[in-house]
Amino acid sequence: MNRVIIGLAEQTECFYLYDAGKIKDQIRKLRTAFPQIDFLYSIKSNSNKGVMKTVFSCGLGADAASLGEVMLAQQSGLNKENIYFSAPGKTSQEIEQAINRAEIIADSLTEISRISAIAGKTQRSIGIRINPDFSFDSTAGTASKFGIDEKEALRYLQSEVPDNVRINGIHVHVKSQELNSEKLKSYYRNMLMLAENVEAVLGYQLNYINMGSGIGIAYSETDTEIDIDSLGKETENLFSEFRKTHPNTRLMIETGRYVVCQSGVYVTHVVDRKESHGKTYIILKNTLNGYVRPSLARMVDKYDKESSIPCEPLYSGADSFSFYAPYQDREKEIVSLVGNLCTAADVIAEDITMPYLQTGDILVINNAGAYAAVISPIQFSSQTAPTEYLLHEDGSIETYFL
Ligand SMILES: Cc1ncc(COP(=O)(O)O)c(C=O)c1O
Repeated sequence: MNRVIIGLAEQTECFYLYDAGKIKDQIRKLRTAFPQIDFLYSIKSNSNKGVMKTVFSCGLGADAASLGEVMLAQQSGLNKENIYFSAPGKTSQEIEQAINRAEIIADSLTEISRISAIAGKTQRSIGIRINPDFSFDSTAGTASKFGIDEKEALRYLQSEVPDNVRINGIHVHVKSQELNSEKLKSYYRNMLMLAENVEAVLGYQLNYINMGSGIGIAYSETDTEIDIDSLGKETENLFSEFRKTHPNTRLMIETGRYVVCQSGVYVTHVVDRKESHGKTYIILKNTLNGYVRPSLARMVDKYDKESSIPCEPLYSGADSFSFYAPYQDREKEIVSLVGNLCTAADVIAEDITMPYLQTGDILVINNAGAYAAVISPIQFSSQTAPTEYLLHEDGSIETYFL
């Protein structure tokens, strides 16, 4: 990988490099651990065409959060049965365009009414997103802009579903980036119980139960990587027992970052260095605007000590990134790594030890495969956008322009 990075850095100022082999390894791990589960790829985490092609070539379906993502999934060759469109606030036009392309997951009761109106004389099958009366940490529900409150959903399903609509499945997602297996296990148990409660009200079995995401990754050295094999073994019984009574119900988990985050690095160059009031600044090309996460995380950690910050999907702690410069034989110094934008917020690390860096040197930042290029303000300051590269297992490299 190092050799590939150095080669690409000779031609490109700043770029993302995704490793298709690593993406496939992650998918293999999930599949081996959870043979009873179908996985959906959360396109929002990384919609690079080559990344999507790699993921979908492994047989994953799509978790689409917009009409645009429905289209991307369709263009990637997925059929309606494997595209799940779940998002709050879909417009009627978006529903009309998506209805023959994706399984629509209604996010509110008014959305179900609109789907019914659009369906007219045609019978439509949809899913509903439920805001459950449990979370990863508690057995109580909380207010949310996502989904229909569990009690309200159960009441509605009893007698109010329009005649031209059939509820095919349910979707719940309450948390991302969970590293505690016990919490994930209890969440899955709660999900299956919720599904049975929904079925009891509907009077028939669901076609699918989409349990959302949850499985996290070790961003920092202090995070403990989830033991996916053990989690798989410990939930095997739960899912197998459910399967016995539900042979035709698809059990699904959505995942973005587990599959792609660690497959990506962001590479940029040093454009200048300077001393100011005893501090050394290394000025880099396109940091906040090229890969926003490190500066965003640093800003949040530095200034927001009070509130607890939701992780998804913009933020992970400032210790979530390593900054690597391939010059280990040089003398070390303490520096701050900053970007070339005209904002003081463009700081990715303060007072860290790095090898002596000068103009033209390379800096590599990890964990850049998920919620990275897709959330970065690339237009900010009209800098040249980073390029995206996908490294295939045979060593070939595809180029994509943002
Ligand atoms: C509804 C839903 N599903 C799946 C995901 C993907 O989460 P992750 O990338 O952590 O797997 C998200 C993330 O925001 C989400 O909101």
